[in-house]
Amino acid sequence: MNLAEAKQVLLEHGQQQLLEYYDELDEGAKKALLDQISKINFSVFHALNKGGERKIGKLSPVPAFTAADVEQNREEFESLGIAALRSGKVAAVLLAGGQGTRLGSDNPKGMFNIGVTRELSIFEQQFDNISQVTKKTGTYFHIFVMTSEVNNDKTVEFFKEKNFFGYPEDKIHFFVQEMAPACDLNGKILLEDKGRVAMSPNGNGGWYSSLIKNGDGEILSREGIEWLNVYSVDNVLQRICDPVFIGATLKSGCNCSAKVVKKVSPEEKVGVLCMEDGKPAIVEYYEMPQDIASLRRPDGELKFAYGVTLNYLFKVELLNKTIDKTLPVHLSLKKIPYISGGVKVKPEEPNGYKFEYLVLDMIKLMENCLAVEVVREKEFAPVKNRTGVDSVDSARALLAKNGVKL
Ligand code: UTP
Repeated sequence: MNLAEAKQVLLEHGQQQLLEYYDELDEGAKKALLDQISKINFSVFHALNKGGERKIGKLSPVPAFTAADVEQNREEFESLGIAALRSGKVAAVLLAGGQGTRLGSDNPKGMFNIGVTRELSIFEQQFDNISQVTKKTGTYFHIFVMTSEVNNDKTVEFFKEKNFFGYPEDKIHFFVQEMAPACDLNGKILLEDKGRVAMSPNGNGGWYSSLIKNGDGEILSREGIEWLNVYSVDNVLQRICDPVFIGATLKSGCNCSAKVVKKVSPEEKVGVLCMEDGKPAIVEYYEMPQDIASLRRPDGELKFAYGVTLNYLFKVELLNKTIDKTLPVHLSLKKIPYISGGVKVKPEEPNGYKFEYLVLDMIKLMENCLAVEVVREKEFAPVKNRTGVDSVDSARALLAKNGVKL
C-alpha cells in the first residue's frame, strides 16, 4: 500500500489521524506504518454502532451429566475416553494469546510463578495435570498452543528453556492469533507510537481460523484428529484431555461439550451454558435477567445452574462446517497506551476499546452442547487477578487443598 492509497482508505473510514506523524518518520518506519494500515480489518468497527443490549431469546436448560452422573458412570466414561486418546482422535488447544492485563505481568500469563517455596509456572502446573492423563493412556496427544504477536517469542523461548515440560516436542505446535486495532472512546484508532498503530490480540474466538490459517489443518487430517479440547491458560486445576470428559461426550452423542461448575448463587458472575431458542448458547452474567437467574427446579437446584470454565470439546467436522461464519465482535473497555501531541501516555483509567471475538460465540454455531459438571474445588482455580476472587491467592489455596506442593 502506498501513501495515496492509505490516505484514501483512512478517509473512507474517518481514521486520518493515523498519518499525523507520517512526515516525521524515516523511510523504514513509513513503510512499516503503511503496511500495518493495509492489514487493518475495519469491519470490527461495526461493533461500535451496534448499541443497545443483546436480546435474550427463550431459554431452556442444556443436556447435562451432573457430577453425580459422572461419578456413577466414571469407569465406563473413562475407558471410552482412554480408547479415543490411544487412537489419537483427540488433541488439545491451549489458548495462551491473552494479555492478562488484570494479572499485570509483562510476561505471558503461563510463565507466572504460582509456586511459593519453589518455582512453579502456570504452564508447568498444567503440564503436571496433563501427565496424569498421559501416564494412564501411555500415549501423548498433540497440543496446539495459540499465542499472539505480543507474547509468542517469550512463550516459545520459555517452553524451550523448560525442555517442553518433559512433553515430546514434536507433539507441541505453536500458532499465532490475529490482531485487531484499538481505538479511543470515540472510535478513533490509537497510535501507540508515531509510526505504530495500537493493536491487540483479537480475542480467543478466532482460534480455529488462526489454527487453520497457520496450516495446522494438515496435522489434524494427517493424524486423524476428530476432537479438539480447548482450554484456557489460567485454570491451574483443570484436567486437560480428561478421559472421563471425553468419554461422557462420546457416550452422549453430542458433538460439543463444556466442563461446567454449579453456580454458587444466582448472582455469581459467570457465563451460563443453556439452550437459547433451541440452540446452545452461553449467556453472560450481565445479560441474564435476574428473575431467570433465580429460577429453581422442584428439587431446589437452580434451573440455569451451569457456569462455564473455558474447557470445551469440539468436533473437528463441525468446526470445519462453521469456519466461514462470522462471529460477533465484542467491545472490551481497557487501558490502552497511546501517543498524543507527540508524547506517550500510559492511562490510569480505561480510555478506549479493544475488539474481541469470543470462544463462547462458537458454541452458538454448534448443533448441541453437553454440560459435564465438575467439582469446583477439584477442577476450577482460574488465575485472573493478583488477589481476591479468581486470583493468585485463591488458586494457591485450592492447589494446596488438592495436595500440590507449592
Ligand atoms: P481472558 O478473558 O481472561 O483474557 O482470557 P486475558 O487477556 O488473559 O486477561 P485480561 O482480561 O487482560 O486480564 C481467557 C483465555 O483466553 C485466552 C487467554 O490467554 C486465556 O487463556 N485469550 C484471550 C487468547 O488466547 N487470546 C485473546 O485475544 C484473549
